[in-house]
Amino acid sequence: MSANKILLELKQLCFEHKVPIMRDKTLQVLTKLAKNKKILEIGSGFGYSSLSIWTNGQPKTITTLEKDKRSFEICRTYLKDTNITIHNTSAFDWIPTKQDKYDLLILDGPKSNQKALFQKYLPFLNSDGYIFIDNTNLFSEIHQLTLRQKKLKQKVNDFIEFLKHLNPEKFQISFFNIEDGYCIIKLIK
Ligand SMILES: C[S@@+](CC[C@H](N)C(=O)[O-])C[C@H]1O[C@@H](n2cnc3c(N)ncnc32)[C@H](O)[C@@H]1O
Repeated sequence: MSANKILLELKQLCFEHKVPIMRDKTLQVLTKLAKNKKILEIGSGFGYSSLSIWTNGQPKTITTLEKDKRSFEICRTYLKDTNITIHNTSAFDWIPTKQDKYDLLILDGPKSNQKALFQKYLPFLNSDGYIFIDNTNLFSEIHQLTLRQKKLKQKVNDFIEFLKHLNPEKFQISFFNIEDGYCIIKLIK
């Protein structure tokens, strides 16, 4: 089966299992950004975003972290013909080796405490690296939020406020109101 057919099949599987995946335009931008980069992704899901980047984006390497055992197993099946490294672990627990320096960090895992993940993984980024954050407009397409969704959205909004107050001499931050919203941060050397 061709790589793009596998991607379509995987996308369908994610819809059937209600696993949220990156939207098409968002993924297109990320795929371009990924070229020649050593990538660390937090939140593999079933592997749709990492397989898309691998197939269409010419990254140097991809390492992706997934906490949920079942998602990890499905991810592993779909990524078996790639050199993508998958770890079945929580991003809060995983410890990169000291030599591991990434060019691009993708935050697409838990939305409840992204600030902690941002702070944890920042030292593992190269000095001219990037951070890509998905769902900055979380639940933008839902009209009646449940209490739980409201609380989670508030946490995302607090994280965005934190990002907006980062030192502009060290971080160049751009927000995009496309699809569910995303943010690209470039570290300034
Ligand atoms: C939005 S989905 C990822 C979708 C995937 N990036 C894609 O576009 O195909 C978020 C994933 O993060 C995982 N996750 C949640 N908490 C996590 C944690 N602490 N560490 C690693 N993964 C986590 C969830 O199990 C879920 O599969």
